[in-house]
Amino acid sequence: NMRFAVFGNPIKHSRSPMIHAAFAGQCDVKLEYRAVRVELNDFQRAVTAFFDAGGSGLNITVPFKEEAAAMAMELTGRAARATAVNTLWRDDAGVLRGDTTDGVGLVRDMVANLGWRIQGQRVLIVGAGGAVRGVLEPLMRELPTSVHIVNRTVERAETLASEFAVLGKITASGYGDLAADQYDLVINANSAGLSGEMPALPPGILGERSCCYDLLYGAEPTAFMRWAAQNAAWAVSDGLGMLVEQAAEAFYVWHRSRPETQPVIQQLRGVLA
Ligand code: ATR
Repeated sequence: NMRFAVFGNPIKHSRSPMIHAAFAGQCDVKLEYRAVRVELNDFQRAVTAFFDAGGSGLNITVPFKEEAAAMAMELTGRAARATAVNTLWRDDAGVLRGDTTDGVGLVRDMVANLGWRIQGQRVLIVGAGGAVRGVLEPLMRELPTSVHIVNRTVERAETLASEFAVLGKITASGYGDLAADQYDLVINANSAGLSGEMPALPPGILGERSCCYDLLYGAEPTAFMRWAAQNAAWAVSDGLGMLVEQAAEAFYVWHRSRPETQPVIQQLRGVLA
């Protein structure tokens, strides 16, 4: 069997082994996929040891995505722009290669699964951390009219906006300076949601057909999803579909086949409930 794993810390709650097992079953691929907790100072050694021992591919999660990008000898364009890697493999020449599939996962969930539009839409991104950096390029490739990044630390939002400005119109501000504009699509990437908090967003930013997407997911609606529902968002989603879609894209990178994501999203939804 080919061996795969996800490296992270913490890793206990990772759903990746279940997702990749389901994909493998569908595509008739024989593989083993484990979740491995790696010590913070041991990442590079663990990666090298995994591939030296014949491992086929790794997914990388928090907090190692930047370190994985630094370690890879060759990055895909989207991974280089994100300076983050969630998928590693060694090619036939033994070169360690890295890609990031998070942004494609987000876009596919919004467009293909939920039927939302990004093209021609005014997008608001809440937060400016690593998660945002990881998804901006695929998002900009969908040609939104504009993207505004709002963040507590304004400088971080401004840095992202200028770094990705070649891909389209991106502006930045703090929460206090959030314009009274309306947005068609609001994407929450603020980690305060992990503790059930949510930055103060003016209710007027949602129009009649605005869609709200939280990168987080859980058994219960997140604080951001509750805010969206209370403010009459037209559609609201958590990030479970993105999780499955980024895994499907990693599966494609490794196996060159595309699993069906819909049944796996349903399966996970059942496990979470
Ligand atoms: P991630 O990988 O989830 O993006 P991160 O890089 O640590 O993690 O980014 C966390 C994001 O959540 C940032 O936008 C952060 O805002 P700052 O850049 O100002 O730190 C935001 N965030 C976290 N806790 C927050 C809080 N209590 N209030 C407002 N924003 C918060």
